[in-house]
Amino acid sequence: MALHNALLCFVFAVCAATPMFARAQPAAAAAAASAPVGDAAAPQAYTPKGADTCLECHDDETAGYSASALFKTKHAQRGDRRTPFGPGGLQCEACHGPGAAHARNKKATSINTFKADSKLSLPERNQLCLGCHAGSARTAWHAGVHERAGLACTDCHKIHQEHDAVLSRGSEPQVCVACHKQQRADFQKTSAHPVRQGRMGCSDCHSAHGSSAQAMLIKPTLNQTCYSCHAEKRGPLLWEHAPVSEDCSLCHKAHGSVRPALLVKSPPLLCQQCHSAAGHPSVARTGAALPGAGGVGAIFVVVGGCTNCHSQVHGSNHPSGAKLMR
Ligand code: HEC
Ligand code: HEC
Ligand code: HEC
Ligand code: HEC
Ligand code: HEC
Ligand code: HEC
Ligand code: HEC
Ligand code: HEC
Ligand code: HEC
Ligand code: HEC
Repeated sequence: MALHNALLCFVFAVCAATPMFARAQPAAAAAAASAPVGDAAAPQAYTPKGADTCLECHDDETAGYSASALFKTKHAQRGDRRTPFGPGGLQCEACHGPGAAHARNKKATSINTFKADSKLSLPERNQLCLGCHAGSARTAWHAGVHERAGLACTDCHKIHQEHDAVLSRGSEPQVCVACHKQQRADFQKTSAHPVRQGRMGCSDCHSAHGSSAQAMLIKPTLNQTCYSCHAEKRGPLLWEHAPVSEDCSLCHKAHGSVRPALLVKSPPLLCQQCHSAAGHPSVARTGAALPGAGGVGAIFVVVGGCTNCHSQVHGSNHPSGAKLMR
């Protein structure tokens, strides 16, 4: 406990106060205190002394657990009434639930551990967090794919660590790709959004807490998500190329591709998915020039193919750019 004293002096500037976490008796705890004692009679009872009781047994030496790290996080702001450690807060029990019975019997089964075999069900565990965090960013949680897939808040968030990895752009992707292996592979490809380099995080495009858009994108449509960074592709343009304003993913992968510029296919095949290979669009004057047709000079499809001439694939603002060539 000496270690704690020194630490708490430092963090909270409350020195030599014993007990350190003395808390105003919360209504629930007061009620519990007057309830009959005994594990069976009062399974929902809070401890009268809160964290002071918990820390008697759980200190920094306990494997896998760090009180000092928790006390450096926003959850331990003692001046903030909304936090577990604010005035009147339930402290450890705000998240772990009533712990009086556990403090007596010392069994892991008598407290919410946040583990899969916890005595609380998954929705009950998530509700402990949502009770304080149902606001703005989580309004879509209950409609989101992650909620439906049975994720817990604690699959992504680490509470007893000073820095929760999922909250910073550089370390967030590691948390996500632990489950999303395909996306880990995608971002290794030669052309990829710079996630691996730490310049972007998954949440630059996705709302991990859920959204009403496809693939939990941050914006209502895929294109709007892309425009949030590639604004110049939105236009307005004098000569639009129809598929661009329709859906960027007709031509681009979002994560990574083995082709340049995240393309789904390389030109001319990319273009020929939609543009006929008969006559010009793809072929010099006669069908004989088509690859495989025995012709000699398929000049419209050599090397970079179509984009050698039609360089303005995203549309053009040039008065004579109708054919997307300038
Ligand atoms: C008298 C000692 C004692 C007190 C007081 C106590 N605990 Fe425990 N706690 C234990 C022991 C011992 C275990 C390990 C049980 C086991 O592994 O089976 C444990 C396990 C836990 C676990 C589960 C850890 C795991 O590995 O899954 C949590 C969470 C926990 N305690 C939280 C609390 C909280 C919160 C309080 C205060 C309300 C508290 N404890 C008070 C002794 C105590
Ligand atoms: C804001 C919510 C929250 C508060 C407050 C909180 N915990 Fe936890 N605790 C968790 C979560 C979530 C886990 C599961 C592991 C994780 O995500 O870090 C956990 C895990 C634990 C464990 C098990 C560690 C292990 O895996 O072996 C113990 C013991 C524990 N907490 C004790 C405490 C004590 C003591 C306090 C008060 C000083 C406290 N907790 C305050 C959320 C909280
Ligand atoms: C008693 C209310 C309460 C409970 C219970 C609670 N939190 Fe919090 N949490 C807060 C407050 C208050 C903040 C600080 C918000 C701020 O400063 O804007 C916070 C901050 C956070 C943050 C942001 C931390 C940061 O550094 O920006 C995360 C993530 C978070 N909580 C997740 C959780 C999870 C997951 C649980 C359940 C295990 C949980 N919280 C339980 C009140 C609570
Ligand atoms: C799939 C991973 C994942 C899950 C599951 C998850 N979160 Fe988050 N959370 C994030 C990411 C990423 C951020 C940071 C980016 C952002 O704000 O969208 C974040 C940010 C937060 C923040 C701080 C920023 C803010 O919006 O106030 C809080 C609080 C929070 N989450 C609470 C929760 C709660 C409560 C749950 C469970 C209902 C939960 N999270 C489940 C990934 C997750
Ligand atoms: C540049 C924006 C962007 C970034 C960054 C991004 N995504 Fe995506 N993601 C998308 C788009 C757009 C889709 C929908 C693709 C589609 O429907 O064609 C998607 C789809 C998904 C899907 C659904 C399956 C699939 O592949 O279509 C998962 C899972 C996913 N992303 C996970 C991640 C993870 C994990 C990260 C971070 C490592 C990440 N994404 C980063 C834009 C992005
Ligand atoms: C604990 C495992 C786990 C973690 C961690 C996780 N996810 Fe998921 N995610 C899932 C599961 C399960 C699904 C639903 C099944 C699927 O589509 O693969 C899913 C689905 C998705 C989808 C597809 C939504 C759709 O409509 O198809 C996206 C996008 C996504 N996750 C992004 C993320 C991001 C971003 C993170 C990190 C902040 C993350 N995930 C962390 C397990 C996880
Ligand atoms: C959060 C900002 C952001 C969002 C949102 C975004 N991008 Fe990007 N995009 C970038 C950055 C940064 C680069 C890399 C530029 C560089 O390396 O100079 C990039 C590069 C690209 C490239 C060129 C890749 C290469 O290898 O040359 C394409 C194509 C692209 N993005 C398409 C998209 C599409 C399609 C979407 C929507 C699904 C999208 N972007 C959403 C930031 C974003
Ligand atoms: C008809 C196919 C097609 C569609 C649809 C399309 N692109 Fe492209 N895009 C390309 C091609 C081809 C290239 C490579 C250009 C080159 O080789 O010069 C490219 C390159 C890019 C680049 C990197 C070079 C640059 O111009 O900045 C970005 C960024 C980009 N596209 C974003 C987008 C966005 C955002 C959308 C949706 C609004 C989109 N693209 C829709 C075909 C397309
Ligand atoms: C997803 C289908 C699709 C793909 C892929 C596609 N286009 Fe288009 N393109 C269209 C549509 C639709 C139009 C509009 C046709 C119209 O207005 O008659 C168009 C128009 C054009 C025009 C202008 C034609 C005119 O009559 O004004 C050119 C040039 C063009 N595309 C070139 C390309 C090139 C080069 C590629 C490959 C980089 C490509 N397109 C890929 C669908 C596509
Ligand atoms: C050597 C330059 C060149 C190449 C390479 C080229 N085109 Fe063209 N393309 C043109 C010219 C010039 C026109 C305008 C013809 C006109 O106005 O009659 C044109 C017109 C078009 C049109 C509009 C057709 C119309 O009836 O107005 C489409 C669509 C088109 N090209 C698609 C393609 C596709 C797809 C490829 C690749 C397979 C391609 N082009 C390769 C020069 C080229």
